Amino acid sequence: MGKAKQPGFATRAIHVGQEPDPATGAVTVPIFATSTYVQEEIGKHKGYEYSRVSNPTRTRLEQNLAALEGGIAAPVFASGMAAINAVATLLDVGDHVVCGNDLYGGTPRLFNHVFAKFGIEFTYVNTSDADNVERAIRKNTRMVYVETPTNPLMALSDLRAISEVCKCKHADLVVDNTFMSPYFQQPIALGADLVVHSTTKFLNGHSDGLGGVVVCTRPEQAEKLAFLQKAAGAILSPFECWLVLRGVKTLAVRMQQHDRSGRVVAEFLANHKKVRKVFYPGLPGHPQHELAKRQMSGFGSMITFETGSLANANKMLRKVRVCSLGESLGGVETLISHPATMTHAALGEKGRKEIGITDGMVRISVGIEDVEDILEDLDQALAAI
Ligand SMILES: Cc1ncc(COP(=O)(O)O)c(C=O)c1O
Repeated sequence: MGKAKQPGFATRAIHVGQEPDPATGAVTVPIFATSTYVQEEIGKHKGYEYSRVSNPTRTRLEQNLAALEGGIAAPVFASGMAAINAVATLLDVGDHVVCGNDLYGGTPRLFNHVFAKFGIEFTYVNTSDADNVERAIRKNTRMVYVETPTNPLMALSDLRAISEVCKCKHADLVVDNTFMSPYFQQPIALGADLVVHSTTKFLNGHSDGLGGVVVCTRPEQAEKLAFLQKAAGAILSPFECWLVLRGVKTLAVRMQQHDRSGRVVAEFLANHKKVRKVFYPGLPGHPQHELAKRQMSGFGSMITFETGSLANANKMLRKVRVCSLGESLGGVETLISHPATMTHAALGEKGRKEIGITDGMVRISVGIEDVEDILEDLDQALAAI
């Protein structure tokens, strides 16, 4: 008999790790709010000893996320940054990492202000060109760390090309897949060695909990990260694991709607006379539109646009009503933010200028409200400029 066909994405999202509770038949995974587990005799227990080490609600989420990304394990952490921190602890003194130069601002902050002082070196390059990655690799390079599309400039990196470079140079490719979610982009299938997410965003999808995950492809990565959960303790609580388990059940339908509305909003902004430029990989004018079509199965709902100045950005942001002004992304509600003073404030003016983030840029995470209402809101807010 041939290999059994793998269930589709939406089926895995709803069923893997989400099987009815064997003790009660409850169709949703119980929240195991317990710190410890009773033992029958010394060393005899049901596989759980203490909730920093493991917890049944967490186990279920880890199984689910590993299945969605095509990994072998998916240890979850207290936030996206805790997950990225966990990845960096896989490095040793003297190791070097090549990173994208347009990452979520918190990532270079962690690398430069926490890990650099432990003797780990970081070089930032434009990873849109795989040759830049190859040129930056040194003898001690152990990792290449990319986000695609980037935040907020929506530039893509060719994951297959970069993974070829990494294989030749014996470096691991780590991909932050937060913006696309596994529904639209499967980095492991394209050659990534590790995938990270802020589950706070699309995976949870409801803006009601922080979380992070590192999806592993090799047993030794999984072992080291499970050890780190136990040793350092920045684990995700059972309740927040449950929130993500609840959220991923609708990931497929949410992403489909985010993508449909994202395309409509991008088109609207591209044709709006108050908007000077739109950054969205789904627009045919995006410099990597062809790569986007090849590498992703949708374009998502993250859009950045140029209003011309800080004053213009502020004028419009003060007026939004359906869109909520705030940090974060990936929720069912449309979130609108100002990268220069929010997500990328930590880069400083010089750092932002170097990579092309201006004071007039506004980033929108298009939610799943009626798209006509989002368009009307943006139109009336842009009229203030
Ligand atoms: C792409 C990306 N990665 C990581 C993070 C960090 O995640 P968290 O806020 O859950 O710590 C963020 C947060 O905005 C993000 O946008």
